[in-house]
Amino acid sequence: VPASILDVFKYPPPLSSRLSVRGWVTAVRAQKKIAFVQLTDGTTSQTLQCILDPSLVKGLKTGVSVELEGSWSESKGNGAYELKVGPEDTVKILGDISETYPLQKKFHSSQFLRTIPEFRYKTNTLGALMRLRSNVDFSLNQFFNTSGFYKTNPPLVTSSDCEGAGELFTIESNSRQKGDTAFFGKKAYLTVSTQLHLEVLCMALSKVWTLSPCFRAEESDTNRHLSEFWMMEVEIAFVEDVHQLTKFTEEMIKATVRPLLEDHNGIGTDIKDSKRDPEVAKEMELRWKQLLAKEDWDCITYTKAIEILAGAQRDGTVKFEYEPVWGDSLQSEHEKWLAKEYFKGPVFVTDYPKEQKPFYMLLNSDNKTVACYDLLVPEIGELVGGSLREHDLKKLQNEIERRGMNAEEIEWYVKLRESGSVPHGGFGMGFERLLCYLGNVDNIRDAIPFPRAVDSCVC
Ligand code: 4AD
Ligand code: MG
Repeated sequence: VPASILDVFKYPPPLSSRLSVRGWVTAVRAQKKIAFVQLTDGTTSQTLQCILDPSLVKGLKTGVSVELEGSWSESKGNGAYELKVGPEDTVKILGDISETYPLQKKFHSSQFLRTIPEFRYKTNTLGALMRLRSNVDFSLNQFFNTSGFYKTNPPLVTSSDCEGAGELFTIESNSRQKGDTAFFGKKAYLTVSTQLHLEVLCMALSKVWTLSPCFRAEESDTNRHLSEFWMMEVEIAFVEDVHQLTKFTEEMIKATVRPLLEDHNGIGTDIKDSKRDPEVAKEMELRWKQLLAKEDWDCITYTKAIEILAGAQRDGTVKFEYEPVWGDSLQSEHEKWLAKEYFKGPVFVTDYPKEQKPFYMLLNSDNKTVACYDLLVPEIGELVGGSLREHDLKKLQNEIERRGMNAEEIEWYVKLRESGSVPHGGFGMGFERLLCYLGNVDNIRDAIPFPRAVDSCVC
């Protein structure tokens, strides 16, 4: 495959050597004796400066794709390099643009860019987010691989509601051969979480993980909810304490941050350079440092969290819309305040009331709370949710019955508890939420290539 602009920056050819590059023009500035053309091919935030003889710029404008051949030179003054394309060299236009080409050499808001999904990754900011996504995905693969985990691929079509929240998309078939529109005559849904299937694999392979699409039909029109998102889920056998899971979660996230801060392969610089506002880039780097700063992240129980929140509300430190009361869910305002203002960094909250959580969580000895945790981070709130799983057959059956759930649907899952059941636990992390946090992105719709949310399924 041809060398990319990133390759040229990483492994610069000897000065004066001949070089041919391909990409899209991002800017053209023609003067009397010289013309400047900026070229990108999307492999890095940095554009390649090309110095052209003015006779060659005809037809070059923002968005046009070109192949340029010239000599690799040192740019005057600033020590950078550039491609010098003289009158004898070649400029080949590969693809012209139409008059309605929507991108210009100016700032486009992310709202506007979301209306043109087929173009938006040509902008530096969103292109860099896709490169970040690929790099963080790689860091996770590397982390799990070296930690003795196997990556697995649970199904996206399921017959059960893992979370029991009723936020399912039901599958319909247009083939009427069987006389109905369901999945070959059976009820089927798009998965909300791969956890139950992951537990099956965990009972055979001990340490498993996946990064899979999940689908939720919740009508949450916020900057942190998608209808289709990618969840990284982990299941680990033989763990008996929720703090084994929190510590592991912390190590995993730190493993995605180090390459950014240490700038492996220039990925930290790339995402920082892509931000228009230097303050946004600075704030992003502060977040990375904050995630690595503490040896052990803060960890409190839900009961303690309510105490802190209610105390702050009482003494007027903060005015929450929702009163923090034991037994109620933590609202997004509570989560963000705890992480951002109180702990000033990531914080684990453990042992929530059982009524707030799904059926599969291990009941604590107080009979009121379950052995679970959420990881809260500033600006985002909940980034991770996990728990120990109920591994006792009778207790699990009782809980399913108490909740009036359809036991038949999940019989295969429950049966796991009568074939060498072991204590185990796991967690799920919204991949786009992690990207929003690491990449200082305001809206989760910009952290996934083609967002599907309450208001959007554009192409
Ligand atoms: O807290 P949740 O619902 O947990 C589960 O689904 C468990 N079965 C996971 C497990 O233990 N294996 O979802 C886990 C995470 C959340 O913390 C959040 O980061 C993300 O998934 N998430 C979403 N991200 C984007 N859009 C949505 N609508 C999301 N819903 C959950
Ligand atoms: Mg949750």
